[in-house]
Amino acid sequence: MTDAALSAPSTPLAREVARRRTFAIISHPDAGKTTLTEKLLMFGGAIQLAGQVKAKGERRRTKSDWMGIERERGISVVTSVMTFEYRDCVFNLLDTPGHEDFSEDTYRTLTAVDSAVMVIDAAKGIEARTRKLFEVCRLRDIPIVTFINKMDRESRDPFEILDEIEKTLALDATPLTWPIGRGRDFAGTYELATGRIRLVDGGGDVAGTGEDSLAGLVSPERAAETQEELELARGALKPFELDSFREGHLTPVFFGSALRNFGVRDLLDGLADLAPAPQGLEADKRAVKPEEERMTAFVFKVQANMDPNHRDRIAFARLCSGKLTRGMKARLTRTAKTIGLHAPQFFFAQDRQLAEEAFAGDVVGIPNHGLLRIGDTLTEGEDIAFLGVPSFAPEILRRVRLEDAMKAKKLKQALQELAEEGVVQVFRPFDGSPALVGVVGPLQLDVLTDRLKSEYGVEVGFEQSQFALARWVSAAKKSDLDEFLAGNRSSLAEDLDGDPVLLAGSAFQMNRAQERWGNVAFTDIKDVR
Ligand code: G4P
Repeated sequence: MTDAALSAPSTPLAREVARRRTFAIISHPDAGKTTLTEKLLMFGGAIQLAGQVKAKGERRRTKSDWMGIERERGISVVTSVMTFEYRDCVFNLLDTPGHEDFSEDTYRTLTAVDSAVMVIDAAKGIEARTRKLFEVCRLRDIPIVTFINKMDRESRDPFEILDEIEKTLALDATPLTWPIGRGRDFAGTYELATGRIRLVDGGGDVAGTGEDSLAGLVSPERAAETQEELELARGALKPFELDSFREGHLTPVFFGSALRNFGVRDLLDGLADLAPAPQGLEADKRAVKPEEERMTAFVFKVQANMDPNHRDRIAFARLCSGKLTRGMKARLTRTAKTIGLHAPQFFFAQDRQLAEEAFAGDVVGIPNHGLLRIGDTLTEGEDIAFLGVPSFAPEILRRVRLEDAMKAKKLKQALQELAEEGVVQVFRPFDGSPALVGVVGPLQLDVLTDRLKSEYGVEVGFEQSQFALARWVSAAKKSDLDEFLAGNRSSLAEDLDGDPVLLAGSAFQMNRAQERWGNVAFTDIKDVR
């Protein structure tokens, strides 16, 4: 893989690519992701006021909070992208839904980033969801920058937190800044490489340089304690290595307080200096490099009704190479159809606007009427498909009970559309019995009910079915698959793409099938193309 950020970019396109940083924030709820996002956007000048990114309860309400259910529960269901500029970099921050139930969306979003910021609450350390999301990042070796937040509160010893990162995530942790005091005594940060001191009270401006100047800036006890810690840190911790970070083995660590807007600039500078520009990506037939002139992109997210006034459907596409120009034609390789990109959109915290041009690494929203699906590849004509936008086997399977039998056709259409959007998975049994819906988390069922009612006027309930598990089936030899399919029709269904899925009542039954059919693979993750 070439690294656009390190080699001197030679073409205008390569220069645009080299200045892009496309990233997501991973954290456990309450660690401070929303607060940090607001502060990052403020630095980028993307929004004027803090407190506008996500509604929490009733107080902070924004447009992104478009859905009734989201408002009620005070969680962000929407995955959106926020673009801002800082220094000479263009940052694309892909927001991941905060709630555990929406992990599938989150996972897909992480297929579209080049790096991630891991926010850790300094008092709590690594929490469950952080670890889970970290594991997803590790699958793709996504480089991770760590921000240890809430240093202004009672927090754990920095060494202890670093140790926990190393032990629980098997990731080397190298602090690039060091906290001067903590809790009520948190006074600022010391940058290890340069000795630059920034004080909380100084609004983050550089207050001095070098350990010797600490004594003049903070209390003698605090200065002595910090010097001692710095000495220990230098002796005990791994030095920063860019390659190791880029390969996903080491995380640079910053300390701060998102709430007090402290340490956020260090983090942004760190992202600008260290985080990778867009990288090459494997497609089925070849590897695609971001500096290639011809545009390629893949869809990682589809969202309906972002704006209740326009019942549109937006496909979020991550550009993998080249440049997208408004009005250009693109080939949707799944269907070999050509589509016109007449109104691609960029997103900001509050607004969207037409994208006249976008470059590899950028994310654009493409309005469409159901043509684009998750996992789709767009090119300037070449017949390739990107791999690796996964579908996950549902953990809950239900039959849909229709309150008004006259609406069966409408329900079918609605489920098809919502499945294409990734809200729900629909499995149609081979034997012709009514379709089953599958979701990864229970809250998704509420979202489904809510949307069927409000958008399609269809009221439904859900019933247990005799099936509890679903696995995609495939085999190296077509004859093996055919034999399996012929022998198990009553437990088979097809998914949205027509791929076969085995349904089982229990893990025991699923294991039995696996034992019996050794040449057939049963998988709980499917790569969507
Ligand atoms: P999330 O998106 O990760 O769920 O976290 P969010 O930013 O909403 O922050 C969770 C709570 O932690 C919020 O308080 C927020 O103000 C607080 N917080 C975030 N960063 C810091 C920090 O650096 N220091 C301190 N002391 N607190 C921080 P809340 O009371 O739950 O919500 P709110 O009513 O203040 O919005």
